[in-house]
Amino acid sequence: MPGLAIIGAQWGDEGKGKVTDLVADAADVVIRFQGGNNAGHTIVRENGDVYKFHLIPSGILHPGKICVIGNGVVVDPRVMTEELETLRRRGVDTSGLRISANAHLIMPYHLLLDQAGEARLGKLQIGTTRRGIGPCYADKAARLGIRMQDLLDEKILKQKIYAAMEPKRQSLRPHEKDPVLDLHAMTEEYRTFGHRLEDYIADTQRIVWDALDDERLVVFEGAQGTLLDIDHGTYPFVTSSNPVAGEACVGAGVGPKDIGEVWGVGKAYVTRVGSGPFPTELEDGTGERLRAAGGEWGTTTGRPRRCGWIDLVALRYAARVNGLTGLVITKLDVLTGIDPLYAAVRYLGPEGSTFDDFPYHQSILHKARGEYRELPGWNDDITAARRLEDLPRSARDYLDFVSEFVGVPIVLVGVGPGRDQVIWTDASQSRSLLAA
Ligand code: IMP
Repeated sequence: MPGLAIIGAQWGDEGKGKVTDLVADAADVVIRFQGGNNAGHTIVRENGDVYKFHLIPSGILHPGKICVIGNGVVVDPRVMTEELETLRRRGVDTSGLRISANAHLIMPYHLLLDQAGEARLGKLQIGTTRRGIGPCYADKAARLGIRMQDLLDEKILKQKIYAAMEPKRQSLRPHEKDPVLDLHAMTEEYRTFGHRLEDYIADTQRIVWDALDDERLVVFEGAQGTLLDIDHGTYPFVTSSNPVAGEACVGAGVGPKDIGEVWGVGKAYVTRVGSGPFPTELEDGTGERLRAAGGEWGTTTGRPRRCGWIDLVALRYAARVNGLTGLVITKLDVLTGIDPLYAAVRYLGPEGSTFDDFPYHQSILHKARGEYRELPGWNDDITAARRLEDLPRSARDYLDFVSEFVGVPIVLVGVGPGRDQVIWTDASQSRSLLAA
């Protein structure tokens, strides 16, 4: 049975973790296919318990599920072992975790290179999470990467660290004497991580193939969002992997026919962390109000997120790039009390130009501003709504407008942080979930 991919349709932080957590009930395998601990999910359970994840799929909270870190993910073993330890201390069974032997490792020099790279760019910096993500993917492409499987062989590990670290000496000169860059100490430390993670390392593509072949539901969980995609996002202000649905195949080791449905998750407004173009950004009181009401501070870095009106030009682009079959709109409740609301339906570019579609050219995108459709807001508290009919007329009209403009049915709406604060629509009676 083809699986379900859940991806970010904006600039990340759309609430994918909560959606995955909800469908994990029906899933047998949840696999992350790209990104690293630059991601962050906050999951609020029914009893009010809050869990924050950076690497481990949120499916781990569901006993008996297999949670996979796919080959497309970059793993910082220090973060991974800490996250495992925290979960164990809280009594969560982590025996369902599997990490691809082919996943690449974030090394101490990747962290230093990320920081040094940003410092060097100065005002032009990308605003990375400084977790070493970009340099790790760069080493992967340069074939200097170190993979999970290398942790299991000390000799190979040492050779590979030496080969990877040598060419970086120049950029790392200011850190030359830093003890974390000592070849022997680093090999020792990573061997220790290897011992701790050994039982989780596996041939993960086979696990996914077997589940697909046995008609069990596989959920492919994306990190970050479409507009942060290194190929399809707002380059160079992007992450170094592909958060789009196509990567679910590459980063998990399956073919396109193995993905039956693709749900794109977007907020009822838009946020972005880090630098780069943001045509609907609100640098005023409304932006601040969205930040406060939505708790828009990064899970990973604590940075305040930039906030703006929903951008339907970008969302329609995301629908096309990912081949979305369903749209999830999260945090609708955050818009309560803002009247009127605005949705960008076109971009206004330099010298009176207009753009119906997402412009490919960086210079245009940097100057683009939204042209808006004004929509009526609502004042009633919607956090207890569980069916579309429970929502005020204007909230339903807002959702209809988004869905019609983007051309994708809405499957799920978030109306509060709690796990039960959602509205499943008729469109969510998807083939995969029904079959599961
Ligand atoms: P990097 O992924 O740390 O290299 O950062 C590159 C860009 O992606 C920066 O603008 C980050 O703020 C952004 N980014 C990376 N991960 C996330 C995420 O999980 N949510 C939102 N933005 C992210």
